[in-house]
Amino acid sequence: MPNIYIETYGCQMNFADSEIVASLLQKEGYTVVDDIENTDYILINTCAIRDNAEQRIRKRLHELRALQQRHRQVRIGILGCMAERLQSQLMVEEENVSFVAGPDAYRQLPDLLARVRQSGTKAAATELSTTETYADIEPVRLGSNGISAYISIMRGCQNYCAYCVVPYTRGRERSRDPQTIVAEARSLFDQGYKEVTLLGQNVNSYRFQSPAEGLPPVDFPELMHRVASISPLLRVRFATSHPKDLSDRLLEVMAAHSNICKCIHLPVQSGSDRMLKLMNRHYDSAWYLDRIAAIRRYMPDCSITTDVIAGFCSETEEEHQMTLDMFRKVRYDYAYMFKFSMRPDTYAAKHLQDDIPDAEKTRRLEEIIALQGQIALENNRKEVGKTFEVLVEGESHRSKEQLFGRNSQNKVIVFDRQDARPGQYIQVKVTDCTAATLKGEIVR
Ligand code: 5AD
Ligand code: SF4
Repeated sequence: MPNIYIETYGCQMNFADSEIVASLLQKEGYTVVDDIENTDYILINTCAIRDNAEQRIRKRLHELRALQQRHRQVRIGILGCMAERLQSQLMVEEENVSFVAGPDAYRQLPDLLARVRQSGTKAAATELSTTETYADIEPVRLGSNGISAYISIMRGCQNYCAYCVVPYTRGRERSRDPQTIVAEARSLFDQGYKEVTLLGQNVNSYRFQSPAEGLPPVDFPELMHRVASISPLLRVRFATSHPKDLSDRLLEVMAAHSNICKCIHLPVQSGSDRMLKLMNRHYDSAWYLDRIAAIRRYMPDCSITTDVIAGFCSETEEEHQMTLDMFRKVRYDYAYMFKFSMRPDTYAAKHLQDDIPDAEKTRRLEEIIALQGQIALENNRKEVGKTFEVLVEGESHRSKEQLFGRNSQNKVIVFDRQDARPGQYIQVKVTDCTAATLKGEIVR
């Protein structure tokens, strides 16, 4: 049987999806290889969220032409959000692409691959589904460290933020049966995993209504409670939450379980109420700050991270300053910061003007980045002297004598290894820091 090689770009959902794809194809007899020189198919799981994500894939496809000259049997397929957005047009524009499959069409991959091989023609499967959750597929843990794994709990998104392409590439929101989620987490724990991250575009709106009669629906706090109850030695993380429906009940459940990690990713996008409204975010800055206050009330030691967009349509200098103010008020531990990129099909593309010049977007973004760097460093300095429980993940990139791990707040801590091993929980006292990392020593 042929070999397949999978390359993944984009968000954690995409990495989780690649593990489902690997599983689906392995079941049909394909072998997943990690040597690109020794494969029959290259599957590229792609992101469409910003134009530069797509340009990166285009560049990669051009690079791969040389490899195809050397290995004439190799066929390339595009999976994921870019495949869904562009569909068969992508195979016309990029002649070395033989097939495309969207996020809900992965069960058709064995068929697509066989068709491409046998008939030499191109093939596409891009239909979106309202029910597909791949709940029955046990993911092949690609490139896993055996310690930490992703579990996809829902798919799709229907929030329709004005800038965002995801509702068009991943379809309607649907939640996966909680029993299959708990079973997957338990099986990972039994195999020795110490941490699971529950993934969804908007996990707070997770809701599963069993078709069996008389069972109440399961919401996200209830699901978290069930997964966290598997064992106190299994850490549970989740991403991403939408501020509009971050409930006190979820915070209560988080506070009640020591193994639910004290870290919330809460994308703010902008500090300006007018921008938030234009973005169709369904909250204003006062609501957002109220949710931050609620997090701190339930869990004073919780870390908070965010996403932000600089230079959305018609954003004024004053509105940009409001975003900086928001950063000063919340004091995020980490932020993913982006320049606005107009995406076809979105509300913004249809109704708004991409009117902030690129140089101005860059300037605003750099201001946010500089401020956030300062805040992260100040936050980290406050951790010096504290002792944290750390899950050891592996060798530090800098030195073989050092290991790294994360505390509950998801901060990376580097320390001299002594006799610690990956997969262990140990106590580490923080002795120093940078804006990005804590340094510490093991305490007995
Ligand atoms: N331009 C820039 N950033 C975007 N994001 C989503 N769409 C766009 C876009 N068109 C950012 C948001 C989101 C994160 C995943 O990507 O901040 O939370
Ligand atoms: Fe993930 Fe969104 Fe990129 Fe799709 S477009 S891979 S959902 S970040």
